[in-house]
Amino acid sequence: MMLSFLLSLLLSLSFLHHPPRVRSSPLSELDALMVLKAALDPSGRVLTSWSRGADPCAGDAGAGGPSSSFEGVACDERGRVANVSLQGKGLSGRIPPEIGGLQSLTGLYLHFNALGGDIPREVGSLRMLSDLYLDVNGFSGEIPPDIANLTNLQVLQLGYNRFSGGIPRQLGSLQKLTVLALQYNRLTGAIPASLGYLATLKRLDLSYNSFFGSIPATLVNASGLEVLDVRNNTLSGHVPAGLKRLDDGFQYANNPELCGVAFPDVRPCPTVYLDRPEPLQPDTLLKKNIPESADLNSSCGKAHCPSRLSGRNAGVVLGVVAVVAAIGFTVTGFLTLSWHRHRKQRTSSSSNVSDERVRAGRVIGNRSKRAASLISLEYSKGWDPLAKGGGGSAFSQEVFESFMFNLEDVERATQSFLESNLMEKSSFSSVHWGILRDGSAVTVRRYAKMSCKSDEAEFLKGLKLLTKIKHENLVRLRGFCCSKGRGECFLIYEFVPNGNLLQYLNAKPGSGKVLEWPTRVAIIIGVAQGISYIHEDKGDKPRLVHQSISAEKVLLDHWNNPLLSDSGLYHLLADDVVFAMLKASAAMGYLAPEYTSTGYFTEKSDVYAFGVLVLQILSGKRVITPVIRHGVEACCFEEFVDENLEGNFSEAEATQLARIALLCTQDSPTDRPSMRTVVHELNTLIGNHLSP
Ligand SMILES: *[C@@H]1O[C@H](CO)[C@@H](O)[C@H](O)[C@H]1NC(C)=O
Ligand SMILES: *[C@@H]1O[C@H](CO)[C@@H](O)[C@H](O)[C@H]1NC(C)=O
Ligand SMILES: *[C@@H]1O[C@H](CO)[C@@H](O)[C@H](O)[C@H]1NC(C)=O
Ligand SMILES: *[C@@H]1O[C@H](CO)[C@@H](O)[C@H](O)[C@H]1NC(C)=O
Ligand SMILES: *[C@@H]1O[C@H](CO)[C@@H](O)[C@H](O)[C@H]1NC(C)=O
Repeated sequence: MMLSFLLSLLLSLSFLHHPPRVRSSPLSELDALMVLKAALDPSGRVLTSWSRGADPCAGDAGAGGPSSSFEGVACDERGRVANVSLQGKGLSGRIPPEIGGLQSLTGLYLHFNALGGDIPREVGSLRMLSDLYLDVNGFSGEIPPDIANLTNLQVLQLGYNRFSGGIPRQLGSLQKLTVLALQYNRLTGAIPASLGYLATLKRLDLSYNSFFGSIPATLVNASGLEVLDVRNNTLSGHVPAGLKRLDDGFQYANNPELCGVAFPDVRPCPTVYLDRPEPLQPDTLLKKNIPESADLNSSCGKAHCPSRLSGRNAGVVLGVVAVVAAIGFTVTGFLTLSWHRHRKQRTSSSSNVSDERVRAGRVIGNRSKRAASLISLEYSKGWDPLAKGGGGSAFSQEVFESFMFNLEDVERATQSFLESNLMEKSSFSSVHWGILRDGSAVTVRRYAKMSCKSDEAEFLKGLKLLTKIKHENLVRLRGFCCSKGRGECFLIYEFVPNGNLLQYLNAKPGSGKVLEWPTRVAIIIGVAQGISYIHEDKGDKPRLVHQSISAEKVLLDHWNNPLLSDSGLYHLLADDVVFAMLKASAAMGYLAPEYTSTGYFTEKSDVYAFGVLVLQILSGKRVITPVIRHGVEACCFEEFVDENLEGNFSEAEATQLARIALLCTQDSPTDRPSMRTVVHELNTLIGNHLSP
């Protein structure tokens, strides 16, 4: 940093005092090249011609001639380094931030090497750069959004590396980009719709990654596009028919969840979508069936049931039942809507601590001092960020520390992670059941250090946030523990005995898992209250978005009260893990359609997921089939209320809940009510019906 600052200072000074001479080879470029040499070629075996005694641009600076004594370096007529071409040289180092000192660089060709590490963000300061070839190396980390500052960039080749994270949406501003090749990486997230605005884009290769969500319809408008390769991802939803014009240039194999009419080997979309006029239009079909919100008199019932779905559609419907988890994926519209709107997450650190929290703190308080000294995060600065000036007062620090467990406690509680206490296991975490010394039952979530945010300050901020979340409909965090020795972090939550809601969906009659109607209503209200609390700015808890609401995240206690789990968790976890969670919710149909175009979550995406959850609870089904959806829209109980209830439900309540579910799952986030409104409606509507 310092060096590059000095370099650029020197640069600008030399410009001020010496008008650029034709043959000038500023010292700073030589310095930058020497740093580059040391970093790219740590063994010093390859770039032997790069030596400090020589002038990199001393040769014939005219076009065409051998312009440098430095291997692979080409200079422009002003005597400045224009190209660095070191492809296939067996380089095994990294790109240093000092690359930013080569301000006249137009081409950087480092492909076919064994380079690793991140792309330094300073690459984004090379304003003249038009070609960046880093493919076939071992680069990792995320693609820095700073690359979007390269307004002259025409070719970006990053394929065959180990890049992770998403495509920075900002790349959609590279107005000269013709090739974007990202194949064979570990990239994930949505394909930014902004790429469709690149009129110059000819080739977009995203194949062999883990992208999910739908193919943005905007790509149809990228008039220069000739090749679009999305093979081997986990894309879903409607394939824009306009892509047919690419013929063989459009490659989409091995994305089993894609659907559409225009492509022979892609299965048809569920009828709900076929009926839609245009994927990008606001959904008129849905709207006309939604009763006005004040229309309390309307009631569903037999009278509303049309003669099922017309024969035209019936065959398709039966065939696609399994696909329909994709509800809501098809529409990639609303692009302009929240394009530049950033999710504001105020992580206020006011030191107000509510009485409740103080009490919670005291329960496990006496342990805190001892635990604090035993805690050892594998971070260089230990707990410093929270010690002073970390945003919290000494008092909230004490509360925070009261959440600290030591490894001994965790091991004792879980009987050293006894296999028989293992409740679930995924690639990122495992959950063990256990009993604390005070006799209370808990679940212990284990995360490998690699799954946690690597930035210490961010991780601790996330932990701190978690300790501030407290509501009767959210699973309570008892504490946490990070062990350097094990390379793991543990989150200790209260144990919730009756399992998760998913286990009650698709229940067989007589299995004891068919929830009664009043229980279902109470679950819906409870979950709504929990989400509403998360969305609010309460005391020192900032507004949050849950991001992964699903039936699996709704746990039921002894009385079948719902408790939402994993709130705020994504603040702790590495982006890879968060993306994996998103992918899971996408596969289950909870992902709001706007995620594809905006790439981030708002409270309204939680509202969408809640709406899907309500449909699941009403129907008792895991997958919302077109028949169920249709039943809800047409207000026909027979089609959407769980038949296992054998008619034991309140028609008035079912009507209102169906209406709320529809409002919440509208395609446009602005059309969805806030969670606060939903809670209000639930309380008034349902409350009225419940009271005798
Ligand atoms: C840099 O490389 C580009 C692409 O190969 C080439 O067109 C350009 O002439 C080169 N510049 C110099 C100064 O050699
Ligand atoms: C790129 O542009 C952004 C926004 O203007 C700026 O914050 C960032 O520092 C720039 N990056 C580089 C490497 O110049
Ligand atoms: C594509 O371009 C047409 C005409 O300019 C426009 O009406 C349409 O909204 C665009 N579609 C997208 C997805 O941007
Ligand atoms: C691509 O996807 C297919 C089908 O899922 C799978 O069999 C194949 O191994 C994948 N190829 C790669 C290179 O991941
Ligand atoms: C509701 O229905 C009742 C009886 O069906 C009717 O008398 C009343 O006027 C209706 N109210 C509204 C607001 O439509």
